[in-house]
Amino acid sequence: MVNNMKSFIVTSIVIIVCFIFIVFKGIGIGEESITSTYDDEQEGLNEQIVINFSHVVAENTPKGLAAQKFSNLVQEKTEGKVKVEVFPNGELYSDSDELQALIRGEVEMIAPSFSNITPYETEWLVLDLPFLFKDDDHVEKVLNGEIGKKLLGEIKNRDVKGLAFWPNGFKQMTSNKGPLIEPVDFRGLRFRIMPSKGLEEQFRMLGARTNVMPFNQVYRNFETRYIDGGENTISNIYSKRFYTVQEYMTLSNHGYLGYAVLINQAFWDSLSKDIQEAIIVAMDETTDWLFEHNVEINEQQLRAIRNGSDIQIHELTEEERKKWIDFFEPMYKEHAIKYGDKWLTEILELSAKTHIGK
Ligand code: SIN
Repeated sequence: MVNNMKSFIVTSIVIIVCFIFIVFKGIGIGEESITSTYDDEQEGLNEQIVINFSHVVAENTPKGLAAQKFSNLVQEKTEGKVKVEVFPNGELYSDSDELQALIRGEVEMIAPSFSNITPYETEWLVLDLPFLFKDDDHVEKVLNGEIGKKLLGEIKNRDVKGLAFWPNGFKQMTSNKGPLIEPVDFRGLRFRIMPSKGLEEQFRMLGARTNVMPFNQVYRNFETRYIDGGENTISNIYSKRFYTVQEYMTLSNHGYLGYAVLINQAFWDSLSKDIQEAIIVAMDETTDWLFEHNVEINEQQLRAIRNGSDIQIHELTEEERKKWIDFFEPMYKEHAIKYGDKWLTEILELSAKTHIGK
């Protein structure tokens, strides 16, 4: 009886062990299958560093093209160890929430307009002064030179690192109420602006009202005529088809739209020195490329607007331009009183040096 019982238990254990072995082998939970999930490709994927780069404009704009070029260069220079995923058109974040997303580390890189950063870096308001930049050459010397480096290096927010300034172009005034030739033409109109005290002041002086509004809401508000006008670069007017919902455009070149390319500081600190170096080289190459091509991109798109739309275009004459410049002169003194004249003096001196003999 006892012997029968023993042999029953032994037989049962053998059967159960065999059953477990067969079942686990059958569904692949064995030593062999564990090693096979860690194949080369998987290890490679696990090691790849991904930089999510969010921006709010179209792919065929200076910023959109530069972001893609930067992505390609990073891929090449890190031999695929770093992948930059570009999210254009505000797919991830709008310009009103992208900086906070960067600070929280929800996205690794953004390139907001410097006007969007002025609520945090009030000294950057100097860059929004009308007619501050004499021409594209002056813009490049400021933003891609020592002044630009110092401005980026002095960003107060410790969660954010400035990598570069990128250019887009000079801004042009548009409206659906009438041509904007003289400062008096702005009186009583409502303009969309980016969140900058400098831009608010510019339109206040003109006797216009303003609404701060994210970029991706501008088209709809032009279309419904909730706002009468705006100031945008040609590439933004072209790529977002603002020329279909605005009737008048003045080539005023009165202000500049440029970007601060920012990366999350904690993410940056987590990268090895080699990777940081490769990213800096890719960024410098991209920035130089963009400064070589941004004017041409805007010019090409102006030709496309001229040829393919009914918007009425007026180019300020020298005399009209002089009137606008004189009109905005008091803003310079006011700016110096409120925010100091350190950057203003440096920028204007650079213009004087740059244009000596011209
Ligand atoms: C951009 O170019 O990033 C948007 C500019 C704007 O909000 O007007």
